[in-house]
Amino acid sequence: MNLQVPNNISEITPYPPGKPIEELEREYGISGSIKLASNENPFGPSPVALSAMQSALEKLHRYPDGSCYYLSESLSAHLGVDQAQIVFGNGSNEIIEFLVKAFVTENDEVITSHPSFLMYQKFVQVRGGTNQVLPLKGMAHDLEKIAVLASARTKLIFLDNPNNPTGTLISADQLELFLSRLPEHVIVVLDEAYIDFVEDDKKYDTISLINDVAGRCGVVCLRTFSKAYGLAGLRIGYGLMSKDIAACLHKVRQPFNVNLVAQEGARAALADQAFYVKTLKMTADGKRYLMCEVEKLGCTAYPSQTNFFLIDVKTDATSLYEEMLLKGVIIRSMKAYGFPQFIRISIGTDQENRRFLDCLQGALQECGNV
Ligand SMILES: Cc1ncc(COP(=O)(O)O)c(C=O)c1O
Repeated sequence: MNLQVPNNISEITPYPPGKPIEELEREYGISGSIKLASNENPFGPSPVALSAMQSALEKLHRYPDGSCYYLSESLSAHLGVDQAQIVFGNGSNEIIEFLVKAFVTENDEVITSHPSFLMYQKFVQVRGGTNQVLPLKGMAHDLEKIAVLASARTKLIFLDNPNNPTGTLISADQLELFLSRLPEHVIVVLDEAYIDFVEDDKKYDTISLINDVAGRCGVVCLRTFSKAYGLAGLRIGYGLMSKDIAACLHKVRQPFNVNLVAQEGARAALADQAFYVKTLKMTADGKRYLMCEVEKLGCTAYPSQTNFFLIDVKTDATSLYEEMLLKGVIIRSMKAYGFPQFIRISIGTDQENRRFLDCLQGALQECGNV
C-alpha cells in the first residue's frame, strides 16, 4: 500500500480518548473509582427516559425516523421554535461537523478561542479550512479581538457559551454589541452545551437571535441532551437556527443520523422536567459546597456557570492528576490547555464530592502543596 494522506489530515492530532474506567482500575490496581473528568451528569439518566429507551429496543429492526418528527414536535413546543429551525445530531458534536461541512471550504477561515472546546478546530482541519485561534482574555472570549479579526474570508465563529473549560458566560449586552460589529455573511455559533446550568439571574434569551435579521450576521445555538439531561452515552444534541441555515445542514447529513433509541430517550427526558430540575439544584448545591471546601484546602476555585469548574491547585496539575488517579478519582489536568497549575472537575454526587475532597487533600500533601 502506498498510503497518501492529505496534509490537512496528517496534521490532525486525534481527540485524546479517555481509557475505560475498568482498564484504568486494572492498570492502577484500584477499584470503585469515580470519574469527574467529562462534565457528565452523575445523577442520570432519568428513569422515565430509561423506560422509554427500553421500550424502543423492540423496534430496533426498523430504521429510525430520519426527520426526528416526534422529538422535533416536543422540542418545538418546549422551546417555542418552529420545527424547521431545529436540526438534530449524533451529539451536538455532529451539528458542529455539519456546520463546517456546509459552510467551510479550502479558502475559508473559522475563528475560535483557546482554550475552548477542541472539536471546532478539528472539523475545520478536516475540510482544509484555516483556523484562526485567539487566546481568551483572562477567562473569557476576547470578543473585541474576534470582531476585529472577522473578514470576508471568515465563515464561522465558534463561541462556547459558557466556555469549556473556564465556565464563563458572555453577557447579553456584550453579545449584542459583538453581533452588531460582524459582517452579515458570518455565522456565529453559540455552543450552549452547558446553558442549562447558568444561574437564573444571569440567564438571557439567545434563541430569539437565531431568527434572520436583515443587516446582521447569522446565529446558531447548539444544545445537547448529554449534560443536564444525563444522556451523554446516547449521543443526541441539536442546533437551533434560521430555516435557511437548517436547509443547508440537512443537505450534508446522513438520512438516519440520529438513532431510534436516542430519539425516544431524548423525548422522554424532555418530558421528565422533575429530573431536570433536580439535576440543576443538586449540581448548584454541589458546586457551592466544593468551591467552598477547595478554598479551605488552600486552592483557588474559579466561578463557573456550568457543571464543572477550574481549580488553581498551586502545584503541578499533571502530578496532582496522577496522584488523584492512584486514589481512584479521575479529574482533568489543564496543563495542555495552558493552565499548568489548574485542574478541572465536574460536579459529582454528594458522595463523589466528598471522596474528591478527601483525595484532593491527600494528593496536595503528596505534591508538596500543603
Ligand atoms: C462546549 C461543548 N460543546 C459540545 C460538547 C459535545 O456535546 P455532545 O455530547 O452533545 O456532542 C461538549 C462536550 O463535552 C462541550 O464541552
